[in-house]
Amino acid sequence: MKRIAIIPGDGIGIDVTREAVKVLRTVGEILGRPFELLEFDYGADKYLREGITLPAGALDAFRNEFDAIFLGALGDPRVPDMKHASDILFGLRFGLDLYVNHRPVKLLDAALTPLKDRTEADVNFVIFRENTEGLYSGVGGFFKKDSPDEVATQLDINTRKGVERIIEYAFQYAAGHGLTRVTMSDKSNALRYGHDLWQRVFQVVRARYPQIEANHWYIDALTMQMVKNPGQFQVIVTCNMFGDIITDLGAQLQGGMGMAASGNIHPQGTSMFEPVHGSAPKYAGKNVANPLGAILAVQMMLEHLGLAEPARWVEEAVVQAIRQKKTTRDVGGTLGTRQVGDAVCELIYSVAS
Ligand code: IPM
Ligand code: MN
Repeated sequence: MKRIAIIPGDGIGIDVTREAVKVLRTVGEILGRPFELLEFDYGADKYLREGITLPAGALDAFRNEFDAIFLGALGDPRVPDMKHASDILFGLRFGLDLYVNHRPVKLLDAALTPLKDRTEADVNFVIFRENTEGLYSGVGGFFKKDSPDEVATQLDINTRKGVERIIEYAFQYAAGHGLTRVTMSDKSNALRYGHDLWQRVFQVVRARYPQIEANHWYIDALTMQMVKNPGQFQVIVTCNMFGDIITDLGAQLQGGMGMAASGNIHPQGTSMFEPVHGSAPKYAGKNVANPLGAILAVQMMLEHLGLAEPARWVEEAVVQAIRQKKTTRDVGGTLGTRQVGDAVCELIYSVAS
């Protein structure tokens, strides 16, 4: 029995999580082994009501009592500084040491890409974003705040351990998935210390994988290459900040933010799965949000839990839903969020049988 923590969060996070949960229940039913799903109401409402973001003890509970966490999205205009969102999201990423942010860029149907004359074969790679340090470390501060002489610092923290483990993970993933090329991207031509470390560690790690071709692009050139010739990429590994930026670009290549999924992973711990998109408050509760990114996050979670075959059912069902235009408007259909979830569940039954 797999125990899964469900955090719908805010805005459309709630709408898409409902469909993701439907998919999980459908898979559990087919397997004859239902998942145990426990919902947690962490988000803006709880924060505004009780002042609580991520409660004390939550991390230990997730670490010790759950096999995985599913997160919808966080962010609410009533909390302009995003305090609850960063406490919860970064609390989970940093607190559970989820150092791998695994973001596939996989075009499931050629009709969805904005790139001219590109098909499924051209857009199929994974991005590994370092997820626990870099510019996201929260190290820095203000000096003479709100004065004309104000100074603000935001330190880019790169540790040898942190850089090595994400690059190692990328090579291990390639080796384990029959892939032949790993691309590292940094800005070592300008960031002479932090990204010099990335360069040196990359050389050390690549030497352990002589069968895998290792190459490098500076991040600015990488963005250009992702648009110009995405077919060259199999595995991309990069730092936290650059990974954040290029995964939005990657999302567009596969059909938009509504289509992109991610896993925040610690290979030996409880990992967390979420769509890449945010809470999109203006669409919340309107039955218009695309649930496929969230459903594909479920697919990643199933694979992570060792359920490769059910994960395949989910992906195949999503592919068929797109082909049959059983989708929301952003990807060519006319259905609402709930109807897409229902359609995918029906397709899962037929794929699995
Ligand atoms: C993401 C998001 C977050 C990030 C935001 C909401 C802080 O953009 O998961 O990509 O920057 O990591
Ligand atoms: Mn982002």
